Amino acid sequence: AASTRYEAESGTRSAGSTVDTNHKNYSGSGFVNSNNAIGAYVEVTVNAAAAGNATIAIRYANGTGANRPADVSVNGTVVSSARPFDATTNWDTWADSTLTVAVKAGSNKIRLASTTADGLANIDYIDF
Ligand code: GCU
Repeated sequence: AASTRYEAESGTRSAGSTVDTNHKNYSGSGFVNSNNAIGAYVEVTVNAAAAGNATIAIRYANGTGANRPADVSVNGTVVSSARPFDATTNWDTWADSTLTVAVKAGSNKIRLASTTADGLANIDYIDF
């Protein structure tokens, strides 16, 4: 089925995270710049028509030159631990991190949580 875009700025985020517009090429009304701390997060609630495996694409930018790993969880269970969000060319250049996850029918909470004190890469959206 065609994917649905869930803008990161429409989700929830850890305290100190902001919705920013100071870099180019984002979708929607901005992107989430998480606070720079372990556990900094952004979470979106996606809707699945049926239980099963689904592919998600996480759109991110990371202009630091270094990996910004994050735990990816679905409904509170980590499904990809310290997943790398490797450097992109600059903060204006976005990349997709794509993975397949098991979901239940209806609402599912997908969370990215930083595993380092650097916080998350900038997060634009999740296509589900
Ligand atoms: C810069 C950049 C932000 C980014 C931040 C970071 O300040 O402009 O968009 O979120 O670095 O390192 O997290």
